[in-house]
Amino acid sequence: MAKLIQFFELNTGAKIPSVGLGTWQAEPGVVAKAVTTAIQVGYRHIDCAKAYNNEAEIGSALKKIFDDGVLKREDIWITSKLWCNDHAPEDVPKALDKTLHDLQLDYVDLYLIHWPVRMKSGSVGFKKEYMDHPDIPSTWRAMEALYESGKARAIGVSNFSSKKLQDLLDIARVPPAVNQVELHPGWQQPKLHAFCESKGIHISGYSPLGSPGNLNSDILKNPVVVETAEKLGKTPAQVALRWGLQSGQSVLPKSTTESRIKENIDVFDWSIPEELMAKFSEIKQDRLIKGTFFVDDNYGTYKTVEELWDGEV
Ligand code: A2P
Repeated sequence: MAKLIQFFELNTGAKIPSVGLGTWQAEPGVVAKAVTTAIQVGYRHIDCAKAYNNEAEIGSALKKIFDDGVLKREDIWITSKLWCNDHAPEDVPKALDKTLHDLQLDYVDLYLIHWPVRMKSGSVGFKKEYMDHPDIPSTWRAMEALYESGKARAIGVSNFSSKKLQDLLDIARVPPAVNQVELHPGWQQPKLHAFCESKGIHISGYSPLGSPGNLNSDILKNPVVVETAEKLGKTPAQVALRWGLQSGQSVLPKSTTESRIKENIDVFDWSIPEELMAKFSEIKQDRLIKGTFFVDDNYGTYKTVEELWDGEV
């Protein structure tokens, strides 16, 4: 009998649903329908961010779901993220208020610092001259205030290396509950995983399918993934997601296609046997989302990709 793995418990005691709908690159015009479909087929977790520019449309879908009595607010987990140009402590509460306004919510279940990267307050877009020097301790104090206010029921980070997490733990009054990072069979990050586990920080995996439509990755064509799928009578995407769950991560597959939204949550009543799980360690590893757009010789803090990830590349 397969272990269901429907939730993971955070260091706050809250239970985060293990499969969340990713909404990065879910275009306006389709994202509301994707959220509604996801809820109908059993998702109870939506992963959002101000930077995805679609929170208002997600908010209208959520409002309808609540107004129609399909779900109550407390039945669903909503994550959002603080963008890089909102790191100044005085901007942090305003950024969450904007997100709550757009999502039409009173609180988020989880609020994350999106990147350990700071851009000048008020800057819009990706120009390198907008880069600023991060001051994570001061940003984290403002995140802690949001946690204490109840507007963010848990706080955490995204795209943090083990070193940056340790630096944060050294100053945190409220330790981060989650580190959301790229994770899939082609980028497994075992050292970061072990570090987070030892500190009680849950790992959530973004791009758990290797972002096939976006980054042209071939994770879903990898022989280990494909052979496992054939043996179990599942799809490669389901195998990649189930691998994540069995590795102890929540997974955030993005889809705006109804059949795939359904496929991606059909991962609970079966499992990958140990001997097949062991084969995943043979898969060649490569980070897909390197964050090169935050790296620059002239501007900003990180001169190289290695510096951004503290060598975890
Ligand atoms: P679409 O939204 O058109 O369904 P990731 O979550 O790793 O970033 O991957 C997202 C990409 O994978 C999107 O292009 C999405 O396309 C596609 N995708 C989502 N679910 C599946 C699936 N079950 N099989 C194949 N591709 C998928």
